[in-house]
Amino acid sequence: MNNIKYKKNDLLIEGVSVRNLAKKFPTPFYCYSSKTIIEKFKKFKNSLKIDALICYAVKANPNIAILKILSKQGAGTEVVSEGELIRSLKAKINPKKIVFSGVGKSLNAIKLAVKKNILQINVESEEELELIEEITKKLKKRMQIGIRVNPDIDAKTHKKISTGRKEDKFGIDIKIAEKIFNNYRFNKYLDVIGLSVHIGSQITSLNPFKRAFLKISRMVKKININQKIIKILDLGGGIGINYNNDKVINFNDYAKIISKISKDLDCKLILEPGRMLVAESGILLTKVLYIKKNKKNNFAIIDAGMNDLLRPALYDAYHEIESVKNNKGQKKKYTIVGPICETADTFIKKKILNELNQGELLFFKNVGAYGSSMTSSYNSRPVIMELIIYKNKFSIIRKVDTVSNQISREKIPSLISKIK
Ligand SMILES: Cc1ncc(COP(=O)(O)O)c(C=O)c1O
Repeated sequence: MNNIKYKKNDLLIEGVSVRNLAKKFPTPFYCYSSKTIIEKFKKFKNSLKIDALICYAVKANPNIAILKILSKQGAGTEVVSEGELIRSLKAKINPKKIVFSGVGKSLNAIKLAVKKNILQINVESEEELELIEEITKKLKKRMQIGIRVNPDIDAKTHKKISTGRKEDKFGIDIKIAEKIFNNYRFNKYLDVIGLSVHIGSQITSLNPFKRAFLKISRMVKKININQKIIKILDLGGGIGINYNNDKVINFNDYAKIISKISKDLDCKLILEPGRMLVAESGILLTKVLYIKKNKKNNFAIIDAGMNDLLRPALYDAYHEIESVKNNKGQKKKYTIVGPICETADTFIKKKILNELNQGELLFFKNVGAYGSSMTSSYNSRPVIMELIIYKNKFSIIRKVDTVSNQISREKIPSLISKIK
């Protein structure tokens, strides 16, 4: 996969010059290579030697153009909100390929999911299950349900994106889940036939997956001993990517584990990858606003902030940054910071780069996942533009927001105007 590469002081994405894009559009902006997404999807799909429905985790990058690219490859989606469901429907994802997860689904979101006859709702509490039953009853519909269990497995990833330990808010305790399967066996409105698990994100070792999947397969065998109750296994997402010399999971090895555990279970499989399908497709182009020195640091202040790329501030995540120029020149150490009024708005400390100057173009790598999806307008900064490239052509897939648009949703009511 080499769709993003240097050529003569420029960075080309599928042949399109990033330097030219920066002449047309103000930085910062995200830019993606569609080919990279397609190649990643195909590589993953081909590594699976068994049939599985791949439901792309929309939260990684919810842009409807990206959903469309993936749906054209045969993907469904995994959604966690009404908004993500609406996006999936807008991108014409077949509702029978949509799985709805999440610990706090709203009433409206559940209603929409039921009305649209999506494939499955993965339930995370008994109260949620009762609410879904009420809704299906009212709407005279049936709904396929997956029970998300908490396997109490540490995914050995950043603590803020670990979701499968018993202290985490996600999933239902295995013992309680077993009872639910039994209690809902003959339910009029709900087909409680799915078992789902997702232990976290950016997982770089196979071991946590192995342990979680083994627990799950034992559970299926136990519940299905006399009668086949569990027919669907949703094994979630979580495969990590190489951000900073991270060791990555080989798709074939991952596929082998899945084949092994599912071999004698006779269940249909769902997988929910997010990050690894889209992360490597994206860059964030930014410009050096100022160079500023103090006694401890040589700052490069760039025009992208933590509101545009939150992962470093939120998870101390590392995103490689490089100059588009890629020239030789004198090496210097830079602390790369954004314009936001927070010390957390620091991307990388003491990064060795060729000497930087005001106006210089830099780009963050591997920001296609959990980059644009986490943008905000903090400090009243407009949410930035997203571009996509496909075979030498580019297109805007999200327009830059404007401050006047932000303000247009606000008002100064008369009760405030009257204040003396
Ligand atoms: C339920 C569920 N499925 C899938 C994913 C996607 O994970 P990843 O992007 O790490 O593949 C997530 C994200 O954490 C999730 O919460």
